[in-house]
Amino acid sequence: MSQKLFIVFCFHISVTLASQLRPGFYAQTCPRAESIVRDVMWKAMMRETRSAASVMRLQFHDCFVNGCDASLLLDDTPDMLGEKLSLSNINSLRSYEVIDEIKEALENNCPGVVSCADIIIMGSRDAVILSGGPNWEVKLGRKDSLTASQEDSDNVMPSPRANATFLVDLFSRFNLSIKDLVALSGSHSIGKGRCFSILFRLYNQSGTGRPDPTIEPEFREKLDRLCPLSGDQNVTGDLDATPCLFDNQYFKDLVNGRGFLNSDQTLFSLDNRTREFVVHFSKDQDAFFSAFVEGMVKMGDLQSGRPGEVRRNCRVANNPAHGRNRVLKNRVDLVSNLV
Ligand code: HEM
Ligand SMILES: *[C@@H]1O[C@H](CO)[C@@H](O)[C@H](O)[C@H]1NC(C)=O
Ligand SMILES: *[C@@H]1O[C@H](CO)[C@@H](O)[C@H](O)[C@H]1NC(C)=O
Ligand SMILES: *[C@@H]1O[C@H](CO)[C@@H](O)[C@H](O)[C@H]1NC(C)=O
Ligand SMILES: *[C@@H]1O[C@H](CO)[C@@H](O)[C@H](O)[C@H]1NC(C)=O
Ligand SMILES: *[C@@H]1O[C@H](CO)[C@@H](O)[C@H](O)[C@H]1NC(C)=O
Repeated sequence: MSQKLFIVFCFHISVTLASQLRPGFYAQTCPRAESIVRDVMWKAMMRETRSAASVMRLQFHDCFVNGCDASLLLDDTPDMLGEKLSLSNINSLRSYEVIDEIKEALENNCPGVVSCADIIIMGSRDAVILSGGPNWEVKLGRKDSLTASQEDSDNVMPSPRANATFLVDLFSRFNLSIKDLVALSGSHSIGKGRCFSILFRLYNQSGTGRPDPTIEPEFREKLDRLCPLSGDQNVTGDLDATPCLFDNQYFKDLVNGRGFLNSDQTLFSLDNRTREFVVHFSKDQDAFFSAFVEGMVKMGDLQSGRPGEVRRNCRVANNPAHGRNRVLKNRVDLVSNLV
């Protein structure tokens, strides 16, 4: 009897302990972790500059869906529809292979120690520094989820049609302020978006049959040439005028009506609460950098409190049966054995 109780107790703490995040979490267990991540990120960017943007974006799409737990890295299984094919992620998220490469390098150095969720956080920080942006200390110690949910991703991740007012509300549900929203949108200082994401605003904004009137006319002509109405919607355009450099050009572009996404441009054109910060950041890059760092750290603190583990392979749970809620079921079985 007492032995069974002990099993239940151990089981409970080994999989549900909420992680206390802190800097230097791997100082003893994997002292080279942060330099290994930086190294692989550097090599990835030498191959393709855009991989910095693509990796950084993973932090947003991970942390907003049940906390920063690498759920978005799980491949679908017969029992689980994961997040890779969700509305915002399909044909859009990329550079998963860079995460795999980082994981492999870490597993070679200190197997089973560094979580995939922490890899996303470190890789995103490094993407920013290596693109000319600010440096900061990351808190670590996250666990990887046992499962993922396409539905949760669909319900949470904002569409490119979203406007500033909607985004203020969405971010406030994550305790992220208006300043956080505007600063974090500044991540679009690097990277690219597809014609798919802007066709509606070029040709039929809000069902009017007309383009979005807030687009600066010369810029609109350029976008029209890039994205003709019946063209290939996978063609990509730059999210700001300096897509490889992490700087405040994005905000200068918004002030000039040259935002790529509707969600970007409305931060200046629609809502005076967000406009204030856009104008401020367009004039003061240091202010943008420090607000961005603050936002990334806050976003990185989001946690679900659900059971977690350190995955051996970022694409699959260590015990894929977890995807079928085995964990809970076993626990109920154990408990009912006791009665
Ligand atoms: C505020 C709400 C946001 C919306 C509506 C949004 C939406 C989008 C969309 C539609 C794209 C282009 C996807 C495509 O066309 O395939 C994109 C790209 C990107 N997003 Fe966001 N995003 C938001 C916030 C963020 C945040 C908070 C981050 C990171 C901190 C981020 C990082 C990125 C990056 C780096 C890219 C370029 C990725 C690449 O080149 O592969 N975004 N975003
Ligand atoms: C902003 O988006 C919300 C939600 O989609 C919508 O109800 C609202 O009408 C939009 N505001 C403007 C001015 O377009
Ligand atoms: C936001 O903050 C409140 C109060 O501190 C807290 O109860 C809630 O869990 C937080 N929400 C998120 C998503 O972190
Ligand atoms: C524009 O959008 C509206 C509403 O979604 C739709 O009814 C209309 O057919 C669209 N017009 C064109 C030209 O696509
Ligand atoms: C974009 O490319 C993907 C494959 O990378 C393809 O499955 C999809 O159909 C394409 N989408 C469009 C709109 O052309
Ligand atoms: C924003 O606009 C509203 C009405 O459109 C106005 O009442 C408010 O004072 C403005 N706030 C700022 C900060 O300009």
